[in-house]
Amino acid sequence: MEFSEVVKNRYSCKKFDGRKVERDKLNQILEAGRLAPTAKNLQEQVIYVAESEEALAKIDAVTPCRYGAPTVLVVAFDKNNVYTYPGEKRNSGIEDAAIVATHMLLAAANAGVDSCWLNRFDPDVLAKSLGLPENEEILMLLDLGYAAADTKPLENHCKRKPLSETVKYI
Ligand SMILES: Cc1cc2nc3c(=O)[nH]c(=O)nc-3n(C[C@H](O)[C@H](O)[C@H](O)COP(=O)(O)O)c2cc1C
Repeated sequence: MEFSEVVKNRYSCKKFDGRKVERDKLNQILEAGRLAPTAKNLQEQVIYVAESEEALAKIDAVTPCRYGAPTVLVVAFDKNNVYTYPGEKRNSGIEDAAIVATHMLLAAANAGVDSCWLNRFDPDVLAKSLGLPENEEILMLLDLGYAAADTKPLENHCKRKPLSETVKYI
């Protein structure tokens, strides 16, 4: 698919029909995350693929936003392997994990797989429930699957501000 079509077609799917994501498509999505840039090439991301009934139940216990997705990617990063920027106010962990997640979000759209980015959960509660090591922090969840026939993008999908409101030439 043309990149401009991928960007236009993607929307947050809030109702999945339960069809499984094929292994080759899942691998394409994971590969796009692997190729994402990270600060100093640290690659501190850790991606958990939740597909078992047990793992999905743990996700349902912390958020109402799985929407029936058969696959959920848990995007985390290793807090002990981040780059602290000059000034020491911020480090690369969240930023790098967000870039990895965005690569996977767009790769899903390119593969015809619907998705939704989720942050409506307490990452510490989920990390504990999944048994993640202390050094890993969860950034977000990515629902993956196929949209139900009777769903469509929410109205706000088409309501983006014009560039004149968000871009300033200096
Ligand atoms: C950082 C972030 C967090 C989000 N968290 C949630 C969430 O927890 N639950 C949900 O249903 N949608 C969530 N969304 C989806 C947004 O609501 C959606 O992207 C936005 O309304 C624009 O719609 P669109 O993605 O269809 O264009 C999130 C999106 C982003 C980028």
